[in-house]
Amino acid sequence: MAPDTERGGERNRRVELPEAGSGSEPRGSVFPAGGGTTLARFDRPRGSGTTLAVVADPHLTPTDRGSFNVYHRTKQRFQMAVADADRLDVDGFLVAGDLTKDGATEEFALADELLSAAPAPTLAVPGNHDLDPGGEPSAAAFADRYAGGEYPVTREVGGTTVSLLDSTHPDGVESLAGGLDAAALLGLANDGVTAPRVAVVHHALAPLPAPVDTVCPAAQYRLREPAATADALADAGVELVVTGHAHWPYATTYRGLGVVGAPGCCSFPPAYLLLHFDAVGTTVSIMPLADEAGLTEAYEFAVTDDRRGDAVRAAVIDGYFGRFPMVEEVDTQALADPPTAPSVGN
Ligand SMILES: [Fe+2]
Ligand SMILES: [Fe+2]
Repeated sequence: MAPDTERGGERNRRVELPEAGSGSEPRGSVFPAGGGTTLARFDRPRGSGTTLAVVADPHLTPTDRGSFNVYHRTKQRFQMAVADADRLDVDGFLVAGDLTKDGATEEFALADELLSAAPAPTLAVPGNHDLDPGGEPSAAAFADRYAGGEYPVTREVGGTTVSLLDSTHPDGVESLAGGLDAAALLGLANDGVTAPRVAVVHHALAPLPAPVDTVCPAAQYRLREPAATADALADAGVELVVTGHAHWPYATTYRGLGVVGAPGCCSFPPAYLLLHFDAVGTTVSIMPLADEAGLTEAYEFAVTDDRRGDAVRAAVIDGYFGRFPMVEEVDTQALADPPTAPSVGN
């Protein structure tokens, strides 16, 4: 399936965003030329050459427009992520939640249509926008449709062990923050898997970086009891946790775990992640999903958002995206052939 538009070399150009504010502010830039940008290199987990695509927060809608999530581009962005991952022949396609705008039937229909072209296996966790207690689909139906079983689901994907967790309704109750309840963590601990693994969960585990931390209250964005949750994940053999929900790319370490916050597929900067596991560790690359015009449009919607606009503008002006990789645990100088972010769009 071909994406709607915005393929080709245009999106690999160095992008300069419009000057914000009075005109005295410096221009910012996002994603240097040459394709993917390395967000992090972790020394764990290691693997034998597996590459996984992770798409977070596509918020698919066939009808809505505008907002921080640039709803009228959601189909286009997700379609491009699917096509890119297929072209790169990845070993698996993972969705880190908020597949839909609001969990509507027509939104899931669009998701299913687009996911049918994604490279198998295709696995997803739910986000807070996907499930309503008592609504359709039920949590069990979502799990069956998008993970082939009841969460936590653990699968071997191209030689890498991946565990999918539902953080949307800990203990079966609605909450602003997400959480992994005792049953979920016990399920992971007792599943008999001993291999090091990657966990995918919608809500954030680690604190968000500045400047978005000031506009994203932990009570709404992080898993509840994050320290105890991280320790339980580590005890179950998790070495890397990939999260969505914050719609902001970052990487860090937290209580000994590698943690990656995936960018939003739909919002500024529209992108998805590639995780590559090899003998020296894990390389996390950000793969742009918009050309210069698309990135500028997403930026303009983002900076006019009442809640997060000022923080997004400050991040761009301050050169946030120029400071990647945010984690560098691999001595690339010592490697004859250092891992690099893959080039796309050629
Ligand atoms: Fe989201
Ligand atoms: Fe979310």
